[in-house]
Amino acid sequence: MAAELISGTEIARALRAEIRERVAALKARGLVPGLATVLVGRNPASEVYVRMKGKAAEEAGIYLRRIALPEDTPEEELLGLVAGLNADPRIHGILVQLPLPAQLRERVALEAVDPDKDVDGFHPLNVGRLAAGDPDVLAPCTPTGVIEMLLRAGYDPAGRHVVVVGRSNIVGRPMALLLLRKGRGGDATVTVAHSRTRDLAAVTRLAEILIVAAGRPEFIRANMVKPGAVVIDVGVNRVEDPGSEKGYRLVGDVAFAEVREVASAISPVPGGVGPMTIAMLLQHTVVAAERLWSASASSLEEPTRAAARA
Ligand code: GUN
Repeated sequence: MAAELISGTEIARALRAEIRERVAALKARGLVPGLATVLVGRNPASEVYVRMKGKAAEEAGIYLRRIALPEDTPEEELLGLVAGLNADPRIHGILVQLPLPAQLRERVALEAVDPDKDVDGFHPLNVGRLAAGDPDVLAPCTPTGVIEMLLRAGYDPAGRHVVVVGRSNIVGRPMALLLLRKGRGGDATVTVAHSRTRDLAAVTRLAEILIVAAGRPEFIRANMVKPGAVVIDVGVNRVEDPGSEKGYRLVGDVAFAEVREVASAISPVPGGVGPMTIAMLLQHTVVAAERLWSASASSLEEPTRAAARA
């Protein structure tokens, strides 16, 4: 029997409606959450992602600053721009889209972002907090979106054996750390597999929940999946398709048609994890805005209280 479809599109729609209401309530109290997106160069996939993120932010009522820099932007210029955004009280979230052109060091750029405005969760301080199990850290949006999708679809990872395929800093590694955390969305038994794993199929077949972020089109085949498993496909790959209008189509890291016959539930590509990533970015922007706002309110209150005591 074909697996249940886990629709990221529908779950993200519900989440975005909740976020829109939360933004409206904040605006009524005088706080407009603000997001800056920084895109350097003309990577076509990045252009699409940043456009989609910006559009979703605007639809949620978030103030958006779109910044597009030329491919040959020097590092000092990018760092100067990020410093300006760090200091700007209208901006609560900063997203530097990856990958960056070769002359820009990714580590340096990510470390320049104020950790309190790091809605992508890529700053090493936030990475460390996540590794230490901090329940409140801003963690990377894609794995956070996977957790939210699992919970809202009724597949709580607590106590389950989850196998993550992939160890990237954007997905696989933080995915494993989120699943290991105590509490909501965590408490899983986690195995991380990757390109150097021997007999990968034997490992993936252990998974009650299989999360794939391998970056290889249709890499996970039916014989690699335990019957009845829940499969989450994080991959987005363009494969040539001369018959289609654009000349390509998008496929995941999972051979969808055949795995669907083995799994009990599966997320599609497109329409699976992608929309969840965007929804989590909006949520992180709202959370960052609330935290920065209450921090600035308490720092304003402090002298007043001191004056009252005097
Ligand atoms: N490149 C691929 N995924 C992401 C993401 O989630 N955030 C950023 N900033 N860049 C990416």
